Amino acid sequence: MGKKENTTKDWFGNWANEYDSSLGKIKRHHKLLDLVVESSLVKKNDRVLDLGCGTGLLSLKFLKNADCFIQGVDSSPEMIGIFKNKINKLNLSETIKLKLEKAERLSFNNNSFDIIASTVTLHHVKNKYPVLKKINGLLKPGGRFILGDIDMDTTGRLTDPKRLLKIVDYLKEEYALALKEGGLKAFSRMYNNGKKHILNDGEYCVSFQQWKELCQRADLKKSPSNPYRILNGLKS
Ligand SMILES: C[S@@+](CC[C@H](N)C(=O)[O-])C[C@H]1O[C@@H](n2cnc3c(N)ncnc32)[C@H](O)[C@@H]1O
Repeated sequence: MGKKENTTKDWFGNWANEYDSSLGKIKRHHKLLDLVVESSLVKKNDRVLDLGCGTGLLSLKFLKNADCFIQGVDSSPEMIGIFKNKINKLNLSETIKLKLEKAERLSFNNNSFDIIASTVTLHHVKNKYPVLKKINGLLKPGGRFILGDIDMDTTGRLTDPKRLLKIVDYLKEEYALALKEGGLKAFSRMYNNGKKHILNDGEYCVSFQQWKELCQRADLKKSPSNPYRILNGLKS
């Protein structure tokens, strides 16, 4: 495992206990998750892959909308652990299965899922194309891929002040919301998270235009048979 991947794993290992009381407190994050579920057109008995499920915020919203089956995947044992506790408390172990695995691996059979949804996770993957290609294979015919992420391009020279200003300009709204809705602790966590974006420290954000091009290259077509949707995590 590369150094940056370890950084991400450690970062989420450390964040897990405070995740629901920091990012999980920001209403805009919930709006994004609601939009993802709504756009997915999830229905009864659908098989849904929640890629980068974390503490389960998205999966549980799926289940509020439809009696579907969820497969959660995440690379952080601590995030998965918190989700597992929720599943046990809610008696949902028949409906939600979890797998500790990296998005780069995804060891499922082809044509397994009606919906693959991923929120604020895939920007952590440096080499995105093979993951999208794999996602395409895992979808059943007519299946849908919904990506909820941030429309922020952090590529470029780390020492370029213009790049820095562009990113900080994008992040400042999130900082203000974290402070207002989660308090000082949540702000501090989101501020440190933002710093990782600025330094490309395990965070490799690209613009939606770049995501669109990557999806098209991976044969995820914007068509009724195999559509993808890319939803904005920051600008609501
Ligand atoms: C910001 S959290 C998002 C969690 C959840 N989807 C949500 O929207 O609340 C990102 C999640 O992605 C996971 N993650 C990061 N890199 C990953 C990778 N390469 N493969 C699988 N999961 C990854 C982290 O462990 C973390 O739980």
